[in-house]
Amino acid sequence: MELNIKNRPMASAPLSACLSLIDLERYPIHNPSSPVLLEVIAKARIELADSGCVRLPGFILPEAHSALAAETTALAPLALFSSDEYTPYGTGPDDSFSEQHPMRRAHRTTSGHVTRDLIPAQTSIQQIYANRALKALIAACLEAGDIHPFADPMRGLIINTMDVDNVLEWHYDANEFVVSLMTRCADQGGTLEYCPNLRAPGNENFDAVRSVLDGEKDHVHSLDLQVGDLQIFKGRYSLHRVNRIENGTRHTVIFGYARQPGFIGSVASTMKVYGRVMPEHIAAENDRNSDGLAG
Ligand SMILES: [Fe+2]
Repeated sequence: MELNIKNRPMASAPLSACLSLIDLERYPIHNPSSPVLLEVIAKARIELADSGCVRLPGFILPEAHSALAAETTALAPLALFSSDEYTPYGTGPDDSFSEQHPMRRAHRTTSGHVTRDLIPAQTSIQQIYANRALKALIAACLEAGDIHPFADPMRGLIINTMDVDNVLEWHYDANEFVVSLMTRCADQGGTLEYCPNLRAPGNENFDAVRSVLDGEKDHVHSLDLQVGDLQIFKGRYSLHRVNRIENGTRHTVIFGYARQPGFIGSVASTMKVYGRVMPEHIAAENDRNSDGLAG
């Protein structure tokens, strides 16, 4: 097993500022051949295969927690909150299905997003996102060969903020995987619940989805993420939700990577979630439609 890090730092090179936030004894990402790191990767691969989810607890050193929380708290007032009713598939209810069918059952989801273009380049979270050693670790855990930060000027890095009564109801993600860093925990509520690999390509497993929507807990795992934890989650196959915030505020920083370079979200989906688009979205849309065909 080998980490794919170009320009690997020399052992004696000074650590970049953002590496000083990371618990390098537990997660020595600056030293790709470290047996400690290889063990982390091997365990992560097993957990991702078993449950589609891996948590790297204490990834950020405790002494850096308050600074990261302060960073996302200072930026949180820039969040655009969206609140809408979606089925688990990110759509509105489809009346052509029976009443209890998951394609027809929509639940309200409310949370706020601070997009990458609003997050200053010198912040720690921008620097963590740009760090090659972290990217290499994530790619290795996913057995992906290489992964690429989004080219999308808004979605690449998102602060997701949830206040009292906010909830992310049961859904699948559009992306195959998501990487997130918890910077602030709610005082009560805000637990991640997920159903590992509830669907697979070619099998929506609607009966199981319906049972989860009905309150059945057999498939449901819960993960009590703590400040400083890094999580890799395959949300495209695992139905999941973040429970209602009962008290306090919850912040997670979401790092967007894709298997292919150049990912930019569509105009329609960007408008829907973030309420605006940038010239890069329009240019990418024009490129996608340049063959003159519909759709
Ligand atoms: Fe999600």
